[in-house]
Amino acid sequence: MSYSRRGFLTAVGATGGAGALFATMGALGLAPTAEAAARTAFVPPQPSDFTLTGRGAKKVVVLGAGVAGLATAYELGKAGYDCTVLEALDRVGGRNWTIRGGDRLTELDGSTQVARFSDGVYLNAGPARLAQWMVTMDYARELGVALEVFTNANAQAYIFHEAAGMTAPVRWRTAKADVYGYVAELLSTATDAGALDARLTAQDKERLIAFLRGFGSIGNRAQGFAYTGGERRGYHVDPGAGEQPGVELEDVPTLSEVFASGVGQRFSFEFGYDQAMLMFQPVGGMDAIPRAFADAIGGHRIRLRSKVTRITDLRDGVEVEYQDKNGRGQRIRADFCVATMPPHILARTPHNLGPDVQAALATPTVNSAGKIGLEYRRRWWETDENIYGGITNTDLDLASMWYPSYGYGGRRGLVVGYYNFGAQADAYAALSHRDRERRAVEQGMKIHGPKYRDELAASVSIAWKLQPHIEGAWVGWPSRTGAYQLLNRPAGHVHFAGDWLSYMIAWQSGALESARKTVTDLHQRVLSS
Ligand code: ALA
Repeated sequence: MSYSRRGFLTAVGATGGAGALFATMGALGLAPTAEAAARTAFVPPQPSDFTLTGRGAKKVVVLGAGVAGLATAYELGKAGYDCTVLEALDRVGGRNWTIRGGDRLTELDGSTQVARFSDGVYLNAGPARLAQWMVTMDYARELGVALEVFTNANAQAYIFHEAAGMTAPVRWRTAKADVYGYVAELLSTATDAGALDARLTAQDKERLIAFLRGFGSIGNRAQGFAYTGGERRGYHVDPGAGEQPGVELEDVPTLSEVFASGVGQRFSFEFGYDQAMLMFQPVGGMDAIPRAFADAIGGHRIRLRSKVTRITDLRDGVEVEYQDKNGRGQRIRADFCVATMPPHILARTPHNLGPDVQAALATPTVNSAGKIGLEYRRRWWETDENIYGGITNTDLDLASMWYPSYGYGGRRGLVVGYYNFGAQADAYAALSHRDRERRAVEQGMKIHGPKYRDELAASVSIAWKLQPHIEGAWVGWPSRTGAYQLLNRPAGHVHFAGDWLSYMIAWQSGALESARKTVTDLHQRVLSS
């Protein structure tokens, strides 16, 4: 007896129930996989959750209008929870901040920059890339935020390792051709000479060598599997019409020179689950996400320039004191609080949540990161160097340099002149903006030459440790037990949420997943109380 596919599914459904049907459809590639099912397992609170129970939606005060706080208010709002969001800054988004012409950036010591960027030019000062598997993509869809590709890896961008003695940058494509080529040559030679006979059958060896010949673009057995360069490295003169076959890049470095340059150590980046292409960005700036959340929540629910000064858990609710935009002390009563401020800021906020919570809030270490946005009068990286997006990696203190994944072929554009972490970020943070710019340009000229200085039109730099009310790029936990677990549970009527309570620290998806978890916990609690 032969089943048609539909008939087969009907039979499974009849005997195994919906779960078996779903799993079978998944196995046949007809339904979302288990991964997708886990993602969609989040069920937002709904008004109907209350209708049969006779319970009313509760009042919730959310501390922080970053991505976690906004998502919390948005999801709770779907069921009619009465949410108020308190935000110390004069904008929503938290670290999700897109800086455009006219925007001001003030640091802890009061020093202020005003962005002089042209229309359409922006710097994503915080998050700047989304992986396809992240829940951020789902929120973009739900909120109507248009996305475009963010180029996280580009064969045409450079690697520059000054300490290894490189005097000029090498294109990613050239570095890969050389590293893959020599690795393939070595492994083929060793395999053919029998060095791996304890691991490989004769057939394995032939198959491995067949793979390596393509992987490294190397010669055949008669040619000793030699790597001798080739078109993958790139051209000195590109192929053209008529009698112009092109001139390949000369001077293939030796195997020893290639490994001494260390370029191969860059390659693992793009294998990362969270960094592999394709990646995405919202069209027009990353802040399209918090703006869309804020619109959906309703501006009247978000109080900007409202700094939390005390959190008091009460027998039957919570009270939050804050300083409003006029500097006046205010207090708000609610049934619950969701605190999404950075843990190190919460640790400095008076509260009565007890010494264990206080110690937990003070546990994570705070990391630095910095960026500078350099607007240029012309898009020389496109016109002169044929680079359309992507990242150049260096061992200079600028760490990496990003070319814009938008506005191709336009007049002006913005290069991220440095995106660095840790000690490198701290070194730039210690400088005035002018000196940061000078240092970044001096370093960047090693890759792009004098135009990197001469064609600069405007710049803005951010040192996340010096941003008021944020004071850090992201945090790190010594372990995911103890403090981390404690804060993933409510303290009285106070729940916590943020990327810092997820396994995706420094990603908006971490903030969003944490918000979903906290919303679920809080709603369950309300429904079962
Ligand atoms: N998620 C941050 C990045 O991709 C740290 O750079």
